[in-house]
Amino acid sequence: MTRWSPDSWRQSEARQLPLWPDAKKAAAVEAEMTSYPPLVFAGEARELKARLADVAAGKAFLLQGGDCAESFAEFHPNTIRDTFRVLLQMAVTLTFASHVPVVKVGRMAGQFAKPRSTDTEEQGAVSLPSYRGDIVNDIAFEEAARRPDPERQKRAYMQAASTLNLLRAFATGGYANLHQVNKWNLDFVARSPWADRYAELAGRIGEALSFMQACGISPDTVPQLKGTEFYTSHEALLLGYEQAMTRQDSLTGDWVDTSAHMLWIGDRTRFEGSAHVEFLRGVLNPIGLKCGPSIKPDELLRLIDTLNPANDPGRLTLISRFGADKVEAHLPALVRAVKREGRSVIWSCDPMHGNTIKAGSGYKTRPFDRILAEVRQVFAVHRAEGSYAGGIHVEMTGQNVTECTGGAIAVTDEALADRYHTHCDPRLNASQALELAFLLSEELAAVRKRMDQAA
Ligand code: PEP
Ligand code: CO
Repeated sequence: MTRWSPDSWRQSEARQLPLWPDAKKAAAVEAEMTSYPPLVFAGEARELKARLADVAAGKAFLLQGGDCAESFAEFHPNTIRDTFRVLLQMAVTLTFASHVPVVKVGRMAGQFAKPRSTDTEEQGAVSLPSYRGDIVNDIAFEEAARRPDPERQKRAYMQAASTLNLLRAFATGGYANLHQVNKWNLDFVARSPWADRYAELAGRIGEALSFMQACGISPDTVPQLKGTEFYTSHEALLLGYEQAMTRQDSLTGDWVDTSAHMLWIGDRTRFEGSAHVEFLRGVLNPIGLKCGPSIKPDELLRLIDTLNPANDPGRLTLISRFGADKVEAHLPALVRAVKREGRSVIWSCDPMHGNTIKAGSGYKTRPFDRILAEVRQVFAVHRAEGSYAGGIHVEMTGQNVTECTGGAIAVTDEALADRYHTHCDPRLNASQALELAFLLSEELAAVRKRMDQAA
């Protein structure tokens, strides 16, 4: 393999990058950004890798979630708070069922760039460049809005920095104190049939905390009760931006992409020889790799060799995303190949991206039942193959949107128009996300029982 450097990806085929109209300006922006403060530190990325090594060993579970695409328009403290809160609620639900720590990773504070299936979008006789996320261009279907503007990378950085600052405050400043578990509720979730289940769970946790307090274990003595660890992630798509954020760790000389703790490679950019694979192989961050229906077992093994040559546990998370009806045809062969070759990976399930359909109303949606069906299929495969289903990757928001159909407070096809706000793919709303966590916790409880019996 050739020598890696932060810009060695430029020698490889890069798909899905914007065509900046003024390449000089883009280079100048990226050069300026190389002196911006890092958003995360190498030590934090290593710490996340250690947490993920526990997931790889079957001793923890990964919860990764957030917007499909963050936007400049939805930038608001309440939006950040509500998504963070639902992730905490989901994590508490999953921890209670699995009896293992849940590693929380947001698709937040940097999830701006989007891969698209076509370079242009047609409306009537008009053809314009596709929307590629607010970090590249504007969603409005107008010529000026759709023109890629490299300056937007600076605004995305500033928004990511500010979002991360608030997330750090929420995670450690008291909001995430486990004693608050029954206060983390959202008005409209209270109307969900799952609200009672959540209240009951919060009550049981409260009781356990009171008992522990009587034994001398309280937030004053055990800091884990006072706050939580929360990490950030996004698809490392815009390689110029990622390169600009990549710095050498002064202690070890290793390279770290300081734009987020964890970065992943999308299904459209994970082909062999891809610039995205080349870039991410050289940074020390934990890496995700989306695995869709077109990936073959031998191809996956070669990608694993490239991305994790030292077989470092926690380094690589494989995020399967087939579609509920394709899991059985694709996942077992991948799991067997990885197992046969003794590769340490985390198997996470993205039940969103293979289950997108066009509703009768014309909206892009995802039926809750199909999302749940993919999760259950994936757990069934891992059970049959003797591998560990280690994580879930979801597009969700704390807002009361109507983007995915179904769920206990059923969103109908006709209701999609009511609050369809996403800048890209349809997200679970808070109630649907919590519902998924409860249904998933049944799977996790069964896994834990089998593991305890086997021990
Ligand atoms: C995404 O996670 O938003 C995405 C584009 O996924 P995938 O690469 O799996 O299609
Ligand atoms: Co998406």
